[in-house]
This record gives sequence, C-alpha cells and structure tokens, in this order.
Amino acid sequence: MDFFNFTFMKNILILLSLFIGIHSSFALPNWGKTGHRVVGAIAEKHLSRKALKKINTLLNGTSLAYVSIHADEIKSDPKYNNFSPWHYVNFKEGEKYGETPAHPKGDIIQGIKSCILKIRDTNSSTADKQFYLKFLVHLLGDLHQPLHVGNAEDKGGNTIKVDWFNTASNLHRVWDSNMIDSYKMSYSELSNNTKHKTTTEIANIKSGSLLDWTYESKALATKVYASAKMNDNLSYTYMYHHFPIAESQLQKAGIRLAHVLQLVFCGKNTELDTFFNGI
Ligand code: ADE
Ligand code: ZN
Ligand code: ZN
Repeated sequence: MDFFNFTFMKNILILLSLFIGIHSSFALPNWGKTGHRVVGAIAEKHLSRKALKKINTLLNGTSLAYVSIHADEIKSDPKYNNFSPWHYVNFKEGEKYGETPAHPKGDIIQGIKSCILKIRDTNSSTADKQFYLKFLVHLLGDLHQPLHVGNAEDKGGNTIKVDWFNTASNLHRVWDSNMIDSYKMSYSELSNNTKHKTTTEIANIKSGSLLDWTYESKALATKVYASAKMNDNLSYTYMYHHFPIAESQLQKAGIRLAHVLQLVFCGKNTELDTFFNGI
C-alpha cells in the first residue's frame, strides 16, 4: 500500500471509529433485538387460533417476532420523535405512578393504552392499526425490562457506566442486551427453551392490571440498581445471578403480550377497563 492509500485508509478508520463511538454513547436502546423477538415468539405460542388469525391478517403474515423491533427502527426518523418517551416510565421508588408529573408526550403506560385503543377503534385505518399493533408488541417487551421502569436521574441506568466483560457499557445496556447476547442463543432457541409453566402459573402471570405489572418491574428495578455500582466490571458472576431474572421477565412478557392481544382482538370493553384500572 503506498503512502496516499495508507493515509486515506487511516482517515477512514478514524471517521469510522468516531461514528461508532458517537452512536454507541448516544443510543438509548431497549431490550436488544433478540429480547423483543423472544417476547413476540413466546406470545404466538399462547394465542388462540382466532386471535392469531386476526393478527396474521392485519400484519400480512409477518410474525410478532418480526414486527417487535419496528418501534426502535423508526427512532431514526425524526417524524416519530414524539413517540420516544413511550418506551419507558420513570418514577421514584416507593412512589405510585402518577405522583411524579407525567412526561408531556406520554410514557410506556399511556403508550400501551393508546396502542390498544387505536387498534380497537373502528375508525382507525388499517395502516394505523398495523402501526399501533407493532408498537404494542414492542412496548409489552419494554415494560418487562426492569430498568424501563427506572429512575429519571440516571435515565433508567443509562448513565450508570459499567464494564461488561471488560468492554465499556452501562447498567441499562447490560439488561437490554449484554446478558442476552452473551448467552449466545438465537431468539427462536430462547423462545423454544422456556421453563415449563403449569396452567395455574400461566393464569397467575396473566392476572393483574397494567399498573400491577409496572410495579412488579419497578420492584425488580430496585434490585437491579442494588446489584451493581458505577465502574463495576460485570461478567460471569453477574450473569449467573441475574440472567435467570431476565429470562423469566422475557417469558412473562410473552405470556402477557398474548393475554393483552387476546383482549384487544377478542375481548370485551369491560375486560379492558379492568386491565386499565388506576390509569
Ligand atoms: N431514558 C430516560 N429514562 C429511560 C428509561 N427508564 N429507559 C430507557 N430510556 C430512558
Ligand atoms: Zn423500546
Ligand atoms: Zn432499554
């Protein structure tokens, strides 16, 4: 390689690393792609044939796993900026939802409610129903990532810098994707290897309101915040103790997504009112 080419290549590499650096420090992602797809794939196993058929028709045959990351993909388009606060809700430990003034553009609770109402609204266009269904699939996943029900000061753990196996990360990203990626299973492998649940256990998971599920994530978030501190280098021990919680949350999210979709596509308004209790 002659000198010109060497300098040229060096500049390209510098630009590339700057680009990657900027992107990784500003991105505030959600359960990574794998986590969201696992939730979609598990949900499909728990849907009735009738609901599955309606959903398949609306989504033109694409799977819930496939559409689950659409709400993240649209973040690259400023047209959708208004939806970015829909991915999480922050309030203080020991406080109830609503005690902290709500985010003016909404939060994950209002987001889930809006999606459901838009899909059920007979005046909504097919395109809108598709959009809000994809968003709903995504948000049920996010609701079960404990740090999406986090503290505002640290942006749900995004500002708590930690290392993951000696590579720079943050507590939020450890829970969104680092643990799941380190497990090295595809979304279909993960969704096909869930712990067996009895009918009673499944009924218990499905029971409760949207707010009950939010408080459950909040309680887990408190444990997650206590599990690590700034500059920790997390690795095997962290994975050993905490990956089972992430796995169990993904399974619950999938079962609950199926339950919500059952209500949306086959349920009564009164059942939905109960689900929205307190919101
Ligand atoms: N930005 C601010 N708070 C957040 C949270 N809890 N989760 C994801 N992104 C956030
Ligand atoms: Zn999200
Ligand atoms: Zn996240």
